[in-house]
Amino acid sequence: MTTFAITGVTGNFGRTAIKHLAQLVPANQIVALARNTAKAQEVVPEGVTVRAGDYTKPEELAESLKGVDRLLFISSQPGAPVSRETQHRNVVAAAQKAGVSFIAYTSFPHADTSTAPLADDHKLTEELIVKSGIAHSFLRNNWYLENEASTINAAKSGKDFVYSAGKGRAGWALEREYATAAAEVLATGDTAKEIYEFAGPARTYEDLAKATPGDFKVVAVTDAEYQAGLQSAGLDEGTAQLVTSFQTFIRQGVLDEETTDLQEVLGHELTPLTEAIKEL
Ligand SMILES: NC(=O)c1ccc[n+]([C@@H]2O[C@H](COP(=O)([O-])OP(=O)(O)OC[C@H]3O[C@@H](n4cnc5c(N)ncnc54)[C@H](OP(=O)(O)O)[C@@H]3O)[C@@H](O)[C@H]2O)c1
Repeated sequence: MTTFAITGVTGNFGRTAIKHLAQLVPANQIVALARNTAKAQEVVPEGVTVRAGDYTKPEELAESLKGVDRLLFISSQPGAPVSRETQHRNVVAAAQKAGVSFIAYTSFPHADTSTAPLADDHKLTEELIVKSGIAHSFLRNNWYLENEASTINAAKSGKDFVYSAGKGRAGWALEREYATAAAEVLATGDTAKEIYEFAGPARTYEDLAKATPGDFKVVAVTDAEYQAGLQSAGLDEGTAQLVTSFQTFIRQGVLDEETTDLQEVLGHELTPLTEAIKEL
């Protein structure tokens, strides 16, 4: 009997992934890992076992991964008190110690060669997984459409649609589409591909604006103006800088992708952009 586990199940990605996995394999073969087990208990499907899984606690992780064959490791967030690098080292070491035989890891587009600073932890984590000798699939997720929710929703309410990424393109898709595909890969296991570049069709911000309903102006600005706008809307300088860096790397083509990996794994076409925007 194969035992499956998913980390970070209290997050948006984890919740969707575990719900979908429970449709693919029996719930009593699924372990849900979370740092907040009480919260996890409320969100996991019936029959799933909840265990403690804080990325900052290596012993706890190794204990909770005992008996797990296939792990969906959902990447942590940057900027936490314990670095994402350390958190990810802990998860991979714990998986190795516990004898996990397959890891699907949510990575970054072309993590091995990407020039985006955000890719650094993902590149390192992919290397750690390769070195661990554990069979793996790297789920290199492109951009969540949800990242653009504030821009799109502002425009829907009549405010300007502001961006600084120029004609740069990104492969936006809904987070639930990436998460569903992740569960599919976990259920597939060893016969899955080693690398998936998961993305929607490459589009510009102009394309997003055209698919957004409402009466608004589309305003292309510089990165400095974009950052200043975020700060005047209340973001602190560090966060505004980080969010602006996404515009910079989209302009540089870091997320420009032509792939059908996501549709192939899902077994159907992606949600059309206008519908996806309605869903936000
Ligand atoms: N490609 C993209 O566009 C994109 C965009 C955003 C994020 N991401 C990546 O995708 C991941 C999942 O996104 P999401 O929407 O699910 O984020 P989310 O809803 O904010 O959830 C983050 C999850 O990580 C958990 N977590 C944080 N620190 C942890 C720790 N030390 N130990 C164990 N669990 C920890 C959180 O647990 P709690 O519930 O206890 O806080 C939560 O379950 C992110 O972490 C990030 O790496 C990618």
